[in-house]
This record gives sequence, C-alpha cells and structure tokens, in this order.
Amino acid sequence: MLEQIKKLSTEITHYPVQNQEDLEAFRLKFISRKGAIAALFAELKQVAPAEKKTIGKLLNELKDSAQERYKALAIQLSQPHEKPAQHTEDLTLPPATATLGTLHPLTLVKTKIIDLFERIGFSMAAGPEIEDDWHNFGALNFPPNHPARDMLDTFFVSQDPAMMLRTHTTSIQVRVAEQQPPPIRTIAIGRVYRHETISARAHCIFHQVEGFYINHHVSFVELKETLHYFLRGLFGQDIKVRLRPSYFPFTEPSAEVDISCQVCNSQGCNLCKYTGWVEIMGAGMIDPEVLSNCHIDPEHYTGFAFGMGIERIAMLLYQINDLRLFTENDIRFLKQFAAYA
Ligand code: PHE
Repeated sequence: MLEQIKKLSTEITHYPVQNQEDLEAFRLKFISRKGAIAALFAELKQVAPAEKKTIGKLLNELKDSAQERYKALAIQLSQPHEKPAQHTEDLTLPPATATLGTLHPLTLVKTKIIDLFERIGFSMAAGPEIEDDWHNFGALNFPPNHPARDMLDTFFVSQDPAMMLRTHTTSIQVRVAEQQPPPIRTIAIGRVYRHETISARAHCIFHQVEGFYINHHVSFVELKETLHYFLRGLFGQDIKVRLRPSYFPFTEPSAEVDISCQVCNSQGCNLCKYTGWVEIMGAGMIDPEVLSNCHIDPEHYTGFAFGMGIERIAMLLYQINDLRLFTENDIRFLKQFAAYA
C-alpha cells in the first residue's frame, strides 16, 4: 500500500497537463470518485488496524496535493495568454523618450552669427576650399615672394598653377567683389586650412566667418558699430570691446579686436593669459588697391572687412578649453550641447 501511494504521488506531480482536456483526464484519473485515489481509499478497509491511521493520513495528504495541483492548473489554463509575471510589461508607464542627436557647437555658433548679421541686412556667400593664388593672396595685396605670405602657413595642392587650400575666408571677399557691384553687404562662413601643429590652441583645419561691406562713404565708425552690435548680440550687453592697431596686407587701417575675457570675467586666467582681454578677430578698412583689383573704383567706394575664427568664439561662449574637442566626435562632449539647441 505504501508503495502504491508513493508511486501515485510521483505520477500526480509529473502528469503532463497542457490544456483543458489533459486537466479533465487528470481529474478523472486521480481525483474523481472512480479515480486512483478513491480506489486506494477503498482498499484502506483491508489494511491492518495498526497501520490504518498512518496510511489514512498519507492518503489524505495525497488527495490534498492532487486537488491543489488540479486547482493551480485550472487557474493557469484559464489565463492562457498571460505571460509569466517577470515578463509582464506595464502599459501604464510613460513611453521611453527618444534620444535625439544634438547640434555641433560650431553649428550652434554659425547659426547665431548668421542670425545676427541677417538682421542687419547681410547676405551670405561661399567660395571654394581649393583656391588659386590670385584669390587667396594676389588680389589681397600679397605680391609674389612678399614676406606677408609667411603669416599664413599654406598647404599647396599644386605648384604650376599654384593652387592651395584657402588659408582664410578673405578669398571669398575677392570672389564676391569681382562679381557683384556695390553696395555689397555679405558674410561668408567656411573651413580654412593652415599648416599648424595641432594643439589645444591651434589646428590645421578651422572655420572662419568673414564679413564685409562696400558702399559709398563707408567709414571706420560703421565698422566699429557693426562689431559692437555683433559682439553684444553674441556675448551679451556687458561685453567690452577694444580695437588695437594691427597689420593686414588687404586692409588699411587694420585693427585687431579684443573682447573682455568671458571665462574669468576679466579677472585673469589661462585663456586671456592674465590680461583680461581675448583677441577675437581681425578687421579694417578694405585697402583701395584690393577694391581696384576687384574692379571697384576706390574713388567712389570704400568698405570695411573683418574675419574671425568660429572655434575661438565657441570656446569663449561655451567655456571649451581644447580646440581638438571640436573634431574628435566624442559623444560625451557633443551631448553637452543638447541644452543649447
Ligand atoms: N583674414 C584675416 C585672418 O585670417 C582676418 C581678417 C579679415 C582681417 C578681414 C581683416 C579683415 O587672420
């Protein structure tokens, strides 16, 4: 009898139940009045009185466990499509937000610059990155073998004719002025190349924005006012601007433009080399010779021009201390500009 109970117990726990029919078969086989457990109960009469109590208890336990399994299976089968608890999704949760890309800091700065100049009537122009000698140097008053050419370490693409990667966006000034009669009020943004050792402060590829205005009676005052307007728009009304006399072959007079250091608030830091001022661009009145080279009569027209590095502006605006970060495409760096978009 004991043997039979044991055997039946393993049978009950392992009996395969996949669907309602199996479940009914399980019930008939084990729990029903004509089932195996009932049959054993019937045999109980023949058991010796001394063992009756223990065997009876075991049989009752067997019956209980069979009924429990039956109930559990019945519940499970009544919810056939529900996944096990650990895989259930909570459909009331808000959806995961899509992580969008961010605009590159240089794109952010370019957009700001375009926006500011657009408001005061500047159009936009572009030019080729591989430039000829005339547009990069000749028309801009850099005669052949002139020492001023050493100011810019040039990457040459070919010798004869001399073709080079443009060293500044000033080449676009020439291209526009050659083609368009004044008044001209234009900015040009683009990549420029110089043979420099790459470091935190210098790179062989960077971006410049060039601006120029050619019309009757354009004066230095207008240049100053335009730059004030632009720099205040970009850095805020409290920015201080200072012009220092300088030299460029294509402007006369020429100036270098400094702004009060945005990183240390003019208190003195690495970036401003403890002077409180950071150089931000070159500017000046377009040399009459350059106007003539572009077939514009310098007797009737004057103009101003300025040019600046976009990386330098982005560094000041966003407190970036290494120029190389712009080209490394490190997602940890780029992600930080999501808030500015
Ligand atoms: N082209 C000059 C440079 O690359 C900047 C500049 C532009 C200066 C226009 C004066 C006028 O440094």
